[in-house]
Amino acid sequence: MPSATEDNHCGTSNSIANPSIPTSCPSCPTPLNYSGSLDHLKYFEITPIIGREYPTVKVADILNAPNAEEQIRDLAIIISERGVVFFRDQDDLNIADQKKLCDLLGKFSGRPEDHGLHVHPIYRDPGNLPLPDGTTDKNIYVINSEAQKKIYKTMARRTPTEPRDLSREWHSDSTFETVPSDFSFLKMEETPPHSGDTLWCSGYEVYDRMSPSFRTYLESLTATCAQPVFRSAAEAGGYNIMSPRGSPLNAGDDFAPSHPVVRTNRVTGWKAIFVGVGLHVTKINDVYSYEDQMIRDYVMRLITRNHDCIARMKWTKNAAAIWNNSCVWHAATPDTHLVSGNRVGVRASSIGEVPYLDPKSKSRRETLGIPVV
Ligand SMILES: [Fe+2]
Repeated sequence: MPSATEDNHCGTSNSIANPSIPTSCPSCPTPLNYSGSLDHLKYFEITPIIGREYPTVKVADILNAPNAEEQIRDLAIIISERGVVFFRDQDDLNIADQKKLCDLLGKFSGRPEDHGLHVHPIYRDPGNLPLPDGTTDKNIYVINSEAQKKIYKTMARRTPTEPRDLSREWHSDSTFETVPSDFSFLKMEETPPHSGDTLWCSGYEVYDRMSPSFRTYLESLTATCAQPVFRSAAEAGGYNIMSPRGSPLNAGDDFAPSHPVVRTNRVTGWKAIFVGVGLHVTKINDVYSYEDQMIRDYVMRLITRNHDCIARMKWTKNAAAIWNNSCVWHAATPDTHLVSGNRVGVRASSIGEVPYLDPKSKSRRETLGIPVV
């Protein structure tokens, strides 16, 4: 079972202070402890480092359990320790319950009280895809490979002239927001017989693979996560950006926050590389441009050359994945055009806390006493 994390804050630190990086989470000042309420569920680990699958569990049973608050808090702890958790055959889970569980995972695990589910900034865009029943929901983002193909065909710049570099797929959800997502919950309503796998990589482990002196240096840095495309899409479409988006701090249309490169996960208290790479990461702040590129190349190298840090989901109809964006990146595999069959997914995402780095927090391996080599 996940280990207790109560000694996370007892270590000393040699972090270089950066006054722009918050050092605590006021709504969750200490890591959470697993109570054992989910010990009765059958599971297997995807790899020693990341991921867990519950092959027969219905998440609706957790939501409706007499001790639901305890079970949901424990599930949040397990997701935060393992990075991502898979479920199969969630055919009985409706959109309302998917949203409810995603919201409660954040609420019961120390998220600020006035935060909730994320609202996509361009929900009003005419290209925004409806749910399979034809309705739309401001808290649900719909993925549809067939619809995506049609949209891309109309965009000349999307026509490929050479094989794409898929490393750009790696990202953490909503880092373009001042307060990004903690938990994301994706359910695949429809899937081709193969293709469209999703991969998750452990930011805890990538941090642990770095030398102590390099970790300390990265702890002093922030990165800008700009996403100007939302404002330009809203201007072109003549509609207003949605606001607020799951937090009073996620308002307006700037979409250019700075986040700490190394972040403490509020649930486990463990450090992870957070915005060293990613779709929305524009630049590492306060370094020269070639140093910015060098740092991001190094983080990407650790992701792509250490496949033991990665859990891969081969989707099946009504399978679901829930992950914690503050300690994993994820990447879709854009190969659905090679097979027939649609890939339709529905995703809810909870907004967490303002990213922070507690200088007293430790790494996952330090806490668990696992040597890197
Ligand atoms: Fe994503």
